[in-house]
Amino acid sequence: MEITTIVNGVSYRVDVKSNDRLTDLLRKRLGLMSVKEGCGVGDCGLCVVLLDGKPVNACLVLAYQAAGREITTVEALGSHENLHPLQRAFVDVGAVQCGFCIPSALLVLKHLLDSKPSASREEVRHALRSVLCRCGSYLRFEEAFERARQR
Ligand code: FES
Ligand code: FES
Repeated sequence: MEITTIVNGVSYRVDVKSNDRLTDLLRKRLGLMSVKEGCGVGDCGLCVVLLDGKPVNACLVLAYQAAGREITTVEALGSHENLHPLQRAFVDVGAVQCGFCIPSALLVLKHLLDSKPSASREEVRHALRSVLCRCGSYLRFEEAFERARQR
């Protein structure tokens, strides 16, 4: 079936099969490599994207469900020249180790920053529970959120 979806502000008309996942569409078809494939079953959160502004695990969403909706991946968050405040804060506090979970962590925290900038440390921690960081950077993520909030 043919669907139209908006990804990072650009409208795409694509043919998808009924069982294509959103991860397949974003990574394989549109080349957005920040969308990682980890567990593939909704456990690791490494495939998080924002769907109409809210974090979802793209491996659990079928591509056709993105029809008429807006998707944001970390590619749209900032640029080398103009980092998003969260990206700047991640660099400043040294939150990035292997980097594999960073796109998801940034998107989860962006949603929190936009929806509840006054979030408590506990709420930040709760939001990050959906992202598996094998390097254990969670305390740095929390610190980065605090810095980004202050900016
Ligand atoms: Fe693990 Fe999607 S790949 S939750
Ligand atoms: Fe390595 Fe999170 S920075 S998995």
